[in-house]
Amino acid sequence: MKNNIYNLHKCKLIEFPTLSDERGDLTFLESFKQIPFDIKRIYYLHNNKNLNRGAHAHKELNQIVLSISGSFDIKLDDGKLSKTFKLSKKNMGLYICPMIWRDLFNFTKDSVCLVLASDFYKESDYIRNYQEFLSYCE
Ligand code: TYD
Repeated sequence: MKNNIYNLHKCKLIEFPTLSDERGDLTFLESFKQIPFDIKRIYYLHNNKNLNRGAHAHKELNQIVLSISGSFDIKLDDGKLSKTFKLSKKNMGLYICPMIWRDLFNFTKDSVCLVLASDFYKESDYIRNYQEFLSYCE
């Protein structure tokens, strides 16, 4: 049974503070400050071939997805509504709550997708079948 507190309205773009001077820009983020959870894992997608990624939801995981180089699109779907975001700014992250299906696509060659996650990798937290995901949403 889907917990109604998890829907697309919970997902939002977060702007991270950036300090700029003549040397360039420095962007930072901290758990429980800009990031609404404790960061336990970081992974990144690079050398992207413009093939789709994602195609899953997480039962409990919270994530922030950001583009630290190039750009890509990410479509979020809560089983009722969907919305596509273009991530291209190094100081903007997209917060994704649990129980949101995501598809990543349109990767530019130079893209690097950085993901901050609230837990360690656990295959049991994944829902990889869209029909199964929808059945949780009813
Ligand atoms: P997957 O989640 O399917 O990638 P994406 O959603 O970006 O398309 O992960 C691909 C493989 O990598 C899969 O075998 C699980 C493994 N993996 C880890 O071992 N640790 C991790 O932190 C992640 C995200 C994936």
